[in-house]
Amino acid sequence: MTDTLPPVTFASTLDRITASREANARMRRPHRRGIDRPPGPPRADIWRGIARREVPSLAFVEQFAAYQPMAYVRMPRGDLYVVNDPDVIWEVFVGDSGVIKGFGLQQARAVVGDGILTSEGDKHRRHRAMVQPAFTGRRIAGYGDDMLSAIEATDARWQQLADAGPGRMELVDEMTTLTLDIVGRTLFGTDLAAVSAEVAPALARALGVFNRTMNPQWELQSRYPSRSRRTLTESVDVLDGVVGAMIQQKRAELARGDAPHDMMSVLIEATDPQTGAGLTDNELRDEVMTLMLAGHETTSMLLSWTWLLLFRNPEWKRWVAQEWDAAPELDVAAVSHLPRTRAVLAEAMRLYPPAWVIDRLTTVDIEAGGYVIPEGEAILASQWNMHRDARFWPQVRSFRPDRWIASDGGYTEKIVPRGVYFPFGFAARKCIGDRFALTEAALALAHLGRRWHVIPVASRDVVPEPTVTLRPSTSLPSLLRRR
Ligand code: HEM
Repeated sequence: MTDTLPPVTFASTLDRITASREANARMRRPHRRGIDRPPGPPRADIWRGIARREVPSLAFVEQFAAYQPMAYVRMPRGDLYVVNDPDVIWEVFVGDSGVIKGFGLQQARAVVGDGILTSEGDKHRRHRAMVQPAFTGRRIAGYGDDMLSAIEATDARWQQLADAGPGRMELVDEMTTLTLDIVGRTLFGTDLAAVSAEVAPALARALGVFNRTMNPQWELQSRYPSRSRRTLTESVDVLDGVVGAMIQQKRAELARGDAPHDMMSVLIEATDPQTGAGLTDNELRDEVMTLMLAGHETTSMLLSWTWLLLFRNPEWKRWVAQEWDAAPELDVAAVSHLPRTRAVLAEAMRLYPPAWVIDRLTTVDIEAGGYVIPEGEAILASQWNMHRDARFWPQVRSFRPDRWIASDGGYTEKIVPRGVYFPFGFAARKCIGDRFALTEAALALAHLGRRWHVIPVASRDVVPEPTVTLRPSTSLPSLLRRR
């Protein structure tokens, strides 16, 4: 059947790299003089940090935190505003007018193209409406069996490890395998590892370079056939091959009248609300690649940090385990009745937000917090800073999941003013996969936590490292013990 369908064609990776570099260059503006700027940390300190390659780092964003309502610094590649006031964060990021995604995400176009993470304006609105049906409550409930199968596969692997010896594993790798498995099954309706043994390593390589595309050096590396550019092109080509084959296969299944319940089928069948047209091959590729990349590393980091925090805080581990032990069923429907699990995940994202900064570029002069921010300048808000701001959080450094529990025992987010806690971003650009992520994370934690003690060794040496996501500095080597 696939033979009778027209071949799937995509833009080349090199074209995407060039387009993303050119898009960034177009947005750059010379520094504008004669404008009232907010104060900020000394420029010499910042530039020294950049020269020593200490940027991006948590120390870098932390030095802006004390400036209200925002800090300003002139950077080598343009001007930067870091907003620290919740109302101004709300104003800039929820209003979302006169701003587009920042330099980092523009560079990420090299991998994800112009999918809904990076697209803007009318295209973003139309495509978001086309992707949204894959994330309704009913759809997510439908992914439940796939999520549980992937969790069962992890449990079986852990059982083998425990049977064969001391039960040693690398927790971060385990969580990445699990979330990639879930994305593969729910996006494509199949076990990705079975489709191609090359997918996981290609994704890991692409993510490695993807992380580096955020660094200033990438701009130069992407111009020439550097090692980074070759690695990126080769790994994205592998992924494009797999996505192309999947599109072909799904189209054939749909033409046969099969009704698979995966996200890709929703995307293939989606029609533009204005024109009635479906997504082109290239658009489909960009949306699929976006979901594959945005949809697994973030949740893997959430789970990795959560296990570490539960290990470091055994009293809260016992507290949440009572909920798992008492639940008659642990399926998707049960997730909304697990307030303690939800609170543990919220608190883990407060202390270790997988997305630790969110940034934008102004496309016109905008007014915010009493200042004019000129066109072409960068605005950043940091989950890392705001989620750890002692003005808003009692016992700010402590892991206290009970802060998210209301007096009636339910989960609540009404504990801080708006603009203080934003693990999933804001409004029209809020994460489309938030409910999906929280469902898979709750199921994974409850199922695996009910059966296993996860004991990270040398846990005190772990520090957060900011890449595209906030990662633990080690792969969290751990021991497994049956509960
Ligand atoms: C704990 C897990 C996750 C976290 C912390 C997270 C965080 C975020 C954040 C902060 C944004 C907004 C970025 C910005 O405004 O610049 C975002 C957007 C996005 N996320 Fe997630 N995410 C997670 C899981 C997922 C999953 C599971 C998927 C898909 C299966 C996904 C897909 C997306 C997409 C497509 C966007 C772009 C939405 C748009 O602009 O319309 N994410 N995510």
